Amino acid sequence: MSDSLAIVNIGQLVTLAGPARPRIGHELRELGIIPNAALLIQDGRIKAAGTNSQIKPLIPPGTAEIDAGGKCVTPGFVDAHTHLVFAGNRAAEFEQRIAGATYQQIAAAGGGILSTVSATRAATEDELLAESRIHRGWMLRAGTTTIEAKSGYGLDREAELKMLRVMQRLNAGQPAQGACGPKIVPTLLAAHCLPPEFASRREEYVRWVADELIPEVAAAKLAAFCDAFCDDCAFTVDETRTVLEAARRNGLRLRLHAEQFRPGTGAALAAELGAETCDHLEAADPQTLRLLREAGVQPVLLPGSVFSLAHSQYPPARAMVDEGLAIVIATDFNPGSSPIASMPFVMSLACLQMKLTPAEALTAATCNAAWSLGLGDAVGSLEPGKQADLQLHEFSDYRELSYFIAAPARPRVLIAGCEAVA
Ligand code: NIG
Ligand code: FE
Repeated sequence: MSDSLAIVNIGQLVTLAGPARPRIGHELRELGIIPNAALLIQDGRIKAAGTNSQIKPLIPPGTAEIDAGGKCVTPGFVDAHTHLVFAGNRAAEFEQRIAGATYQQIAAAGGGILSTVSATRAATEDELLAESRIHRGWMLRAGTTTIEAKSGYGLDREAELKMLRVMQRLNAGQPAQGACGPKIVPTLLAAHCLPPEFASRREEYVRWVADELIPEVAAAKLAAFCDAFCDDCAFTVDETRTVLEAARRNGLRLRLHAEQFRPGTGAALAAELGAETCDHLEAADPQTLRLLREAGVQPVLLPGSVFSLAHSQYPPARAMVDEGLAIVIATDFNPGSSPIASMPFVMSLACLQMKLTPAEALTAATCNAAWSLGLGDAVGSLEPGKQADLQLHEFSDYRELSYFIAAPARPRVLIAGCEAVA
């Protein structure tokens, strides 16, 4: 027997229906809106989307119904860059930064990423799972239904594998009986920071990641992607190349933290290797944007980390749209540079600080983000055949998502047609 559900009386249905590829240029503003709409869901997938009068005759007798009360329905958010799994927090460093220390100074003094590495190594797998569940709940409550999550706070075999197993367990166990949780897409980020025990042996660490850890993780199917932090305080372009080439040989797809603080830190490499995404890019110049477009690399923009570091250089999002790049926006949720779990807040930043329109921000946070994870044919828009991952908003118009800044709004979230509970 098929399981069907109808959502009726939707004042504004934002389908994002369109070509089966990431959106560029003016397409970023084309949201496929249907006023006075309804959705028919069968076996967790969208069966039909249209006006109330088109859909109502299609609803089989006995189908469960949700009345959207004339409000707005959008796809769930796809957060394509997070560091969801970590132990502890860095509230003390937050205070140090307020007092004037920089992110880089704190890192150079052994804090920063390495302080989260110590806490994450010390946590048991169950403790890490419990903390990560809390982070995931924050994201879900803000409307996120798919989460890319990176390792990178382990930096040794045991702790990196522990982080990846936590992601696997999050995908296996649902938060409440009968309820669904967001899907986690795992990324190996062992090249996040040089671990202290390798301080004088950089090359050896990079070789270990490339020759031993990546093949093991890929063979165990514990990650879909591999990422690296290419930066003056992390890994050089050459070291990053060694890691990413090994990842590609082992069948992992590529993402890269690049050009966060300085041009020339990795974006050209992302283009050369055909990475799926190049993330951050605050310092990217026009020539770099051209390289990314020619190579079909999607930029993942992380305005939350610029905001949280109290910096002023946001990535050049308008120039990227003009260049024809298929931009994505994401939270970069992490305990250091972006303790932000909310996609709507990041959309507000994208509008106010990067001059995206609310429509562009929504496309970058859903459809384009899904394509960047290789999931564009399954999630990110509300079209027949796609998974019914959606939000029933307290708002009537999608623009309110960006406009009511940091509103404690609570969308009702369905994942594969099933009510998600944080
Ligand atoms: O994406 N840039 C490197 N990694 C993270 C920060 C991680 C941390 O500070 O713990 C980022 O900003
Ligand atoms: Fe990051």
